[in-house]
Amino acid sequence: MHCTKKITDDLIWVGANDRRVAMFEGVYSVPDGVSYNSYLLLDDKTVLFDTVDKAVTRRFLENIVFALDGRKLDYLIMQHMEPDHSAAFEELLIRYPDVKVVCNAKTQTMINQFFDIDVDALIVKENDTLNTGKHTLHFVMAPMVHWPEVMVTYDSVDKILFSADGFGTFGALNGALFADEVDFNADYMNEARRYYTNIVGKYGTQVHALLGKASSLDIQMICPLHGFVWRKNLMDIISKYVQWSTYQPEENGVMIAYASVYGNTENAAEILACLLREKGIKTVMYDVSVTHASDVIAAAFRWSHLVFASTTYNAGIFVSMEELINDLVAHNIQNRTVAVIENGSWAATSGGLIRGKLEKCKNIKILEQTLSIKSGLKAAQLPELEAIADTISEDFSLPVAPAAAGQGSLPASIDPVAMFKFSYGLFVLTARDGNKDNGCIINTAIQVTATPLRISIAVNKANYTHDMIVKTGEFNISILATNAPFSVFTQFGFQSGKETDKFSGVDYDERTSNGIRYVPGFSNCAISAKVADSYDYGTHTIFVADVTESIVLSKEPSVTYQYYFDNIKPKPQNPATEPAEKKKGYVCKICGYVYEGDPLPSDFICPLCKHGATDFEPL
Ligand code: FEO
Repeated sequence: MHCTKKITDDLIWVGANDRRVAMFEGVYSVPDGVSYNSYLLLDDKTVLFDTVDKAVTRRFLENIVFALDGRKLDYLIMQHMEPDHSAAFEELLIRYPDVKVVCNAKTQTMINQFFDIDVDALIVKENDTLNTGKHTLHFVMAPMVHWPEVMVTYDSVDKILFSADGFGTFGALNGALFADEVDFNADYMNEARRYYTNIVGKYGTQVHALLGKASSLDIQMICPLHGFVWRKNLMDIISKYVQWSTYQPEENGVMIAYASVYGNTENAAEILACLLREKGIKTVMYDVSVTHASDVIAAAFRWSHLVFASTTYNAGIFVSMEELINDLVAHNIQNRTVAVIENGSWAATSGGLIRGKLEKCKNIKILEQTLSIKSGLKAAQLPELEAIADTISEDFSLPVAPAAAGQGSLPASIDPVAMFKFSYGLFVLTARDGNKDNGCIINTAIQVTATPLRISIAVNKANYTHDMIVKTGEFNISILATNAPFSVFTQFGFQSGKETDKFSGVDYDERTSNGIRYVPGFSNCAISAKVADSYDYGTHTIFVADVTESIVLSKEPSVTYQYYFDNIKPKPQNPATEPAEKKKGYVCKICGYVYEGDPLPSDFICPLCKHGATDFEPL
């Protein structure tokens, strides 16, 4: 008998749950089952979004018959061809031979690969629409989220995003349908993380691109192909996706994964965990021979620091650890600090081999401190273990800032515009690495103490100047004055020093005694500083620095953020009085910066306020 759930007046869930499947995709255990979601829209035309896995085809077909209540099925939108969503396609066509398949060209190719059926499909592409009566459906391509043919669909009337695999979770629905009907954080977030990281974790760039596209839509509900429908607190899951897709850790803490045949490597891992806990650091531990790699991968995406401890086996890494490390590399793990412990009774090689594999990952910092055990840990080696714990502890800064800050993840109670009520100044931050000079605009320089004379700056890690300061430990601040023209801001703020010479064409070459350039003419002073300390805040690094030199250049007042907006930043054209050709582009909702061009790169960061692409809207 049918088992359907009503979502809105004319949208019905017609999917089904499977609690018998042992290994999803043949790889991932799903002890709590999984749901295969399908949705039926009952507009003037009837529209089915995807089908289901073969395991639940019968219930699915019963659901459709009931939900249609005698009506014909007009459209089948195929968003994803993986068989957990397409296996019932052939059965559906037998029962509804007149249904019009709506898909993109890649999907049609895959239909021919999976089935021996000739389908005269309605082929759609990016931004195509389908009107079904009251509703208009917009098609958005989402390649590699999770297969190349994937697309998602936006109902602009009810503001629903049919998100294919995106925003899904493992776990059967157990009578609920909406995420707000359950304690999602307590009961399902771990499985949502395991689902995301293992299924699409490798494709963070593509997921982030889709998030960028989605950010321009007014989304009130998300209907994924697995797991719960989101109708409330959408940012709870979207902010997680921003973190996961950018490989930012969710929490400061250490995940220790170990492979130990006779318990000696485990012993070292346990002692390290105790040392870390004594320092107040959160730890989780996994024996990779008994915990499935999908759980450990999910944990690696969650925690900021990773320790791998492995015995040597057949002159290599122990099998289960090697599998895990290969999996982590395949899933593109990034932005982590890693420590390695090895064991070997005669020729320990596992540590070096683990390092070699992880070194290929982006932005992985592998600690020099290491421990090589010969059979069993000896008291004389405890200082080495303590050194690892000390270094990890030193590597921790303050708690991880919300990684998605500035990318649309703030709760509704926080209006980011409030941050601009601070009386920020604007500064050109300059640095020098070898013969390379570079600079960028920042608004985050303040004096910290008078004795010693120290200042602090917060610099986005995406800035090339940031990397130069990390490397050299020195920088200059030019405090911009009210006579600074807009061109100074475009020169230093609207382009990347990685691709251009920001000082190209300038007629000055003034430098302080540290050899770093400053910006005369438009600044009222220049300050040189040497980094004393730095703090990792996810997207930014805060540098605290000793002032080593300062020069007053003019009596012009300093530019404040407000002054910049009121007097320097060009005003947008008034289309009523200046019906100039409409430019294609995007405007930052936070600070008003205009990006000219289309599309806006999904990883674009506002050069002024450093907010991400999700805070831009079309001109
Ligand atoms: Fe749920 Fe990529 O299939």
